[in-house]
Amino acid sequence: MIVSLPGDAAAQRAVYRPQDDTSLLIEALKRQRVTGSTRALDLCAGTGALSIAAAKAGAGRILAVDISRRSIVNVRPNRILNKASIEARRGDLTEVLTGEKFDLVVSNPPYVPSEIDELPASGLERAWNAGTGGRGLLDRIIAAAPDFLAPGGSLLLLQSAMCHIGKTEAMLEERG
Ligand SMILES: C[S@@+](CC[C@H](N)C(=O)[O-])C[C@H]1O[C@@H](n2cnc3c(N)ncnc32)[C@H](O)[C@@H]1O
Repeated sequence: MIVSLPGDAAAQRAVYRPQDDTSLLIEALKRQRVTGSTRALDLCAGTGALSIAAAKAGAGRILAVDISRRSIVNVRPNRILNKASIEARRGDLTEVLTGEKFDLVVSNPPYVPSEIDELPASGLERAWNAGTGGRGLLDRIIAAAPDFLAPGGSLLLLQSAMCHIGKTEAMLEERG
């Protein structure tokens, strides 16, 4: 069971509720080999739904990262409800990592293209708005992947077909 903390809808202050894109990644996660020694990272965690999925799959260590304070608060009840051990850190993508390596990284970042480059600094829009081209966060995650992926590790990254899948593939390949 996953709960989303109620927010101020008018002020667009709420945590992204798990949706079809979340479910897609959960299905992909279930196909991964996960053991008690698997170190998992959930980048852009929202409610922590993907962290919970990693816990249910048996990952030994799980770190959830999100820039939204509400999101980090929201991970707590989900951790308790699902009896999962998850560390939650608030921060801008990988900036809160301290050289740690992960065997399994799941990320459902904002990926919807918008009309301006500047990314929203707050509000629910921050959960989906990825700037013109929709790659504001995708490119940063891919660029940093060699720093946070353990040798042989997997990155499950969700994006829209509107945001140039070929570019993602090329960037991932370039980085091995
Ligand atoms: C599409 S939601 C995904 C939430 C959850 N992982 C899921 O699949 O249901 C994207 C999340 O990215 C977070 N986010 C946006 N910009 C971020 C950044 N620079 N660093 C970390 N998290 C960010 C938002 O707060 C939001 O919770």
